Amino acid sequence: MKVKTILVVEPDAKARQHLESLLTNAQFKVVLATDEIIGQKIFETDVVDAVIAEINASGIKGVEFTRILKKIRQVPVIMMTQISDLNETLQAYEAGVDGFVAKPVHKEELIEVISACLGLANVTEGSFKDQDFCRINVHDFVVGTQIKYDVYIKLTGQKYVKIAHRGEDLSTERVDTYKARDVQYLYMLKSDFKKYVGHVMERHAARFAALDSAARTSLVKHTGEVIMQQLFVDDLSEETYAGAKAFVENMVASVTEDMDAFKLIAVLNNHADFIYAHSVAVSFYGTLLAKQVKWTSSPNLFKVAMGGLLHDIGKKEIDRAILLKPRVELTAEEARQLDSHPLRGRDILCQLPGIPTDIIQIVLQHHEDCAGQGRPFGLKKERIHPLARLLSVADTFCHLALKSPDSAGMSPKEAIERMLVLHRGSLDPVFLTALAEVFHLEAPDSRTQWRGLFIKKAS
Ligand SMILES: [Fe+2]
Repeated sequence: MKVKTILVVEPDAKARQHLESLLTNAQFKVVLATDEIIGQKIFETDVVDAVIAEINASGIKGVEFTRILKKIRQVPVIMMTQISDLNETLQAYEAGVDGFVAKPVHKEELIEVISACLGLANVTEGSFKDQDFCRINVHDFVVGTQIKYDVYIKLTGQKYVKIAHRGEDLSTERVDTYKARDVQYLYMLKSDFKKYVGHVMERHAARFAALDSAARTSLVKHTGEVIMQQLFVDDLSEETYAGAKAFVENMVASVTEDMDAFKLIAVLNNHADFIYAHSVAVSFYGTLLAKQVKWTSSPNLFKVAMGGLLHDIGKKEIDRAILLKPRVELTAEEARQLDSHPLRGRDILCQLPGIPTDIIQIVLQHHEDCAGQGRPFGLKKERIHPLARLLSVADTFCHLALKSPDSAGMSPKEAIERMLVLHRGSLDPVFLTALAEVFHLEAPDSRTQWRGLFIKKAS
């Protein structure tokens, strides 16, 4: 195969030399330019198969340079980026840049990106798709030193740019610069996600005891979402279940007397993914309800919190496009698939030895209703597991109060009123009353009318 020629435009002599040696060792022919003007002249006269330039080099900015080159002829242009160039990176992508390499440049990544841009046969990476990544809300991202994973941001379509290499320190200040630039999510490869979870759990354990109630709640919520994501991404294994157990223990400890159930909604609504946030929310509110009705033995609280976390685990087998649609827009077949999640959940949990039967029952029965109209079996109230009846109340509440494709996110009062009006026959009144009490609302008794009759409890 003909040797490919790479034009390197790099003003810094040391960096230029470094790139030259990396590329020469990888069997490329290299032409060097100290700035874009010289680079453009070479580009106009010589045979060049690809160009590598710094995005924010002195002289013409990388974005403009890309536009000029692309007007002359269509040759792949690769930009070297660093975090301070985030805006330029986005513009460069729009200007037609074909690939990005994070600075300091690593050999493997450089060769990977060039090979991908040149369409060389040995490319295996550098062309990741959405399904290869998981995302983390930048506001929740847990920083660390010598991170064990690469971190990416997403441009448009399925284009990702690596912004931190494994082994680097990812500081709070650095993540703050992403927030300031309106980056919403950071991404990492699913294959690296376990390492991130391990890191979060370590940080979590070290910091938990020292935090106040609000910070504890926020950290538990974030860890919960990470755990949920891991449960959805990976198979349920002893390892992932152990992670969920550690989360549940912290969750039960963080649901304390001083917890503000109203503020909790705000924390939970600031989520990276409503599917994960919903399960974490059901776990939180389920635990609050259990404490409210004084079912406070450790095994009970554990089963409620774990049941809440796992209740929708069957959805991991369902096409995400279905999960993202509002219920009213589902076809009959899609609705049938969605409604199979309690049975799927039971089957998933049964594969792992050691999961308490009560938790499996909760997962299987959380869409049963007391009037016998629920799924999958239409069980009557007495035949539904009490903890499933409790979590069913938490589940319905979270569907109404949290933002999702089906709900704009009602206030707790509106949500509970709606439940009293529409679901009073299907939800267990004991837990419905307990839910109102958690929010310092007094549910009217059955002799009065239901709609809008809440009385603020005197505290
Ligand atoms: Fe469900």
